Amino acid sequence: MSSADHGLPEDADEDQKGTIVSNEEWCEWLRKDLRSSPVYATHSALLDECCDIAARWRARFWERKALWGRIRRGRRLAKELAEVAPVIARTRAAIEALDLPEGSPKVVILDLCSGFGYLGMFLSELLPADKVERIVLVDIMWAPHNVERQEKHLNPEHVLDPNWPIRLTTSRANLKIPSDRRILARAFLAHGAPAMILGVHLCGMLSLRCIDLYNSCPGFFFLALKPCCLPKKLFANRGDVFEGANGHWFAAAAVAVVGKWNQGNWHGASRIELERKYHIWVANLSNFLAGGAPSAQAAAAAEERRAARLAEFKSQRRKEKHERRLANKSVDERAEIERLRPERELRDRRVTLTITPLSFAQLQLRCWLEVHTGTFVELR
Ligand SMILES: C[S@@+](CC[C@H](N)C(=O)[O-])C[C@H]1O[C@@H](n2cnc3c(N)ncnc32)[C@H](O)[C@@H]1O
Repeated sequence: MSSADHGLPEDADEDQKGTIVSNEEWCEWLRKDLRSSPVYATHSALLDECCDIAARWRARFWERKALWGRIRRGRRLAKELAEVAPVIARTRAAIEALDLPEGSPKVVILDLCSGFGYLGMFLSELLPADKVERIVLVDIMWAPHNVERQEKHLNPEHVLDPNWPIRLTTSRANLKIPSDRRILARAFLAHGAPAMILGVHLCGMLSLRCIDLYNSCPGFFFLALKPCCLPKKLFANRGDVFEGANGHWFAAAAVAVVGKWNQGNWHGASRIELERKYHIWVANLSNFLAGGAPSAQAAAAAEERRAARLAEFKSQRRKEKHERRLANKSVDERAEIERLRPERELRDRRVTLTITPLSFAQLQLRCWLEVHTGTFVELR
């Protein structure tokens, strides 16, 4: 069902310049749209409540035309709301059940891979402000703090609005980088605040990294994870094993698939294969949570084994590539390649530093790190 079926404008632009409908009419359109979604059968009361909230946003942001356009984005708001409703319901139930002792720090919620941040925006309106300190929207696409936002970055204008009942903030982090995960845990749990992790539509390895973060710190008392795409075939091709710090492991081949989206169409593994592997993926992700939080040592050991396996795979691939290259060479050419090998290996380890004088007595330091293996070569 499209919004046009209800005689209402498709996007916010038309909303403003064409048929201007009242907030009540617009809210009714949103409600009708959501009624056609399967999730309405189980979460009708919550979705109706969220429609009222969205109508209040419409009134609040109406004068900021471009911003309201980004929030509504045609049918996007309705679609996103339907997708996050089960996570909102469980998060709300967990907060309601939480008994915070007098004077203890309030809960911090991390919404991992938040994208625009619809989940956080609805939670800000629905959760009790006396129990939740703030909601942090974590994504790789926010501009880092103290760096000017560029076109490629997410625009945080809606997040910065001062009228959110529970404060929303952004945090730029790459979840695949262990130090970024450690920084997140340190930044938001250091004051002893209990914390929740939410992750909706986390593609491939991001789901694993979300669980790593959750397991890394006992301050996290709640995790809601909705995985998205399955890991890519590459992981199976190189024989990867996914291993949790609690000792659970499984072969990447059991879940990896070939395929990609192109202009809204999936090209790759069949629906049957996708469904079968998705169930295996979810069951194994759940197993990483079994047995309580693992120790930091166990997590470090698992990470070390993963890095060692990856290094071995890369070294094997380099060897195969080298052998393929040698196969076409004459005996003399091979001997010459072997003779130059030590020099080549040394060059591959070299860190080159170039100091270029600029005008106004400034110095520009350009550091070109070829392959940093810990071997520093004297500057010539
Ligand atoms: C499929 S979207 C999900 C967005 C939102 N949670 C939702 O359900 O609509 C995936 C999000 O993950 C973010 N992302 C991708 N790789 C990431 C990484 N390595 N670290 C943190 N965020 C990442 C993207 O910028 C994007 O916003």
